[in-house]
Amino acid sequence: MARVLVTEKIAQNGLDQLVAAGHEVDVREGLSEDELCAVIPGAHALIIRSATQVTEKVLDAATDLIVVGRAGIGLDNVDVPVATARGVMVVNAPTSNIVSAAEQTMALMLAIARNVPQAHGALVNGKWERSKWEGVELYEKTLGVLGLGRIGALVAQRALAFGMRLVAYDPYITEERARRMGVELLSLDEVVAQSDFITIHLPKNKETLGLFNAELFTKAKPSLRLINVARGGIVDEHDLFEALRDGVIAGAALDVFAKEPTTESPLFSLPNIVVAPHLGASTVEAQDKAGLTIAEQLILALRGDFVPFAVNVAAGEVSGAVAPFMPVAEQLGRFFAFLHDTPPAAITIEFHGELAGAGTKILTLSVLKGFLGATSQDPVSYVNAPQIAEARGLTVDELSSAHSSDFVNLITLRSAEHSVSGTLTGVGIRVEPRIVAVDDHLVDVKPTKDLLVVRNDDRPGVIGAVGTALGNDEVSITRMAVGPSREGNTALMVLATDGPASDQLLEQVRALDGIIDVYRVSL
Ligand code: NAD
Ligand code: MLT
Repeated sequence: MARVLVTEKIAQNGLDQLVAAGHEVDVREGLSEDELCAVIPGAHALIIRSATQVTEKVLDAATDLIVVGRAGIGLDNVDVPVATARGVMVVNAPTSNIVSAAEQTMALMLAIARNVPQAHGALVNGKWERSKWEGVELYEKTLGVLGLGRIGALVAQRALAFGMRLVAYDPYITEERARRMGVELLSLDEVVAQSDFITIHLPKNKETLGLFNAELFTKAKPSLRLINVARGGIVDEHDLFEALRDGVIAGAALDVFAKEPTTESPLFSLPNIVVAPHLGASTVEAQDKAGLTIAEQLILALRGDFVPFAVNVAAGEVSGAVAPFMPVAEQLGRFFAFLHDTPPAAITIEFHGELAGAGTKILTLSVLKGFLGATSQDPVSYVNAPQIAEARGLTVDELSSAHSSDFVNLITLRSAEHSVSGTLTGVGIRVEPRIVAVDDHLVDVKPTKDLLVVRNDDRPGVIGAVGTALGNDEVSITRMAVGPSREGNTALMVLATDGPASDQLLEQVRALDGIIDVYRVSL
């Protein structure tokens, strides 16, 4: 059972799912950074939305943390590089609220075009002001989209239905993709100069912070209405205030602010602004989706399984053909580590058969997780395995070959001293991992917790002597595989035992006549 600390309001369905999976859910809303640092030790998972700042200080205090789950999209409140260095997985729910955010964008665009909140406010205060709140149509206006990603694309789709002309600034997408969306890609200055409405759907980062500033406002038409449902700080609020006050642009609608929560801003005194307290994702549907998605991802992460929405795992997409091999790849990595008295400087990971070319990055991470985890005091995860390998000066090469002589799929790890190969055998629920070769010996062993690998001269009596030594020490052999070397002069035994062999027993086995090497493996 893991302790899941939840510091913001998360849909109950997600929390219920975590409890049903056997985890303890500890909800503590509204914590300061220091309060969070005080309660985070002992938490294995942390669930947040956009208000909790997961800083280096918080991550330093988070001694047991495995995963941070962001029930939403933006990760600007999480120090992802520090989390990665600490081996903490960061997961978000990247599509949970995109429709809600796109609809909020359309709501704010219409609200600022037609002065809906202003007219409402006037009327409920006894003023029937028809000419004062005259608006403009969206039809045949130019909408500039800054950031044509998931939400930008949904907004573009909806704006097309209103008969708007669409232009966009997004240097990271192709013209072809934009064209298929009915959008013309332009430079930032061109978008600003041509647009009647601009909507921002960018991530907040060093490149985009303060992007919309006084200089850019001077390039806009006076009729421009600006909508920001992305992140506060991308628009400079001081410069926006002056642009609205001085009629440099016509209006703005903001869902997000540089500092949140905020209830006071000079912007709130202006007649040509519409504001909302970060409501882009605040719909029943988005919250249900975000809660469920993050619970599912956390359950996978806490089980040590692959997590599809992890943002700091360098694995790319994992196909259904590759995913089942992750456990055996990790076991091979761990097994391989125990074959080395001193860590090798370089290893090669080979993928043979159908696995070759199937997107095996995650299998390399699995091998490294097992290999490095076998000798590390600190937790090694899919997240930090490449960094730990680099820090240890371990060179990792990958090879893929569609050719596999004896198995449909085979994973082989090689160093200058040793090699081990493994695969999956069987079908359906009978699929099982198998170690099928160690060095140049063919074996057939199911990886189990405690194993002894013994290499000996290939002559009668040695197996019996090893069995007797184990028996005398009350270690039972539960399975055994013996493989002669290809040259035929040595043999290799892999013995599954009902517990770990003691150091003393290892010495006794090593001292037996005909024994060449003995390795104790703990998977
Ligand atoms: P996304 O990653 O799918 O899209 C972002 C797009 O911006 C990408 O196409 C990328 O190429 C482009 N981009 C990145 N850097 C750029 C730059 N410097 N210049 C121009 N283009 C750049 O993200 P998304 O899911 O569409 O989310 C967009 C924003 O909306 C994020 O900031 C997210 O945090 C925010 N968001 C807000 C709410 C809310 O409640 N207000 C809800 C959901 C998402
Ligand atoms: C997001 O990035 O997903 C949004 O800001 C929504 C939220 O967390 O409320």
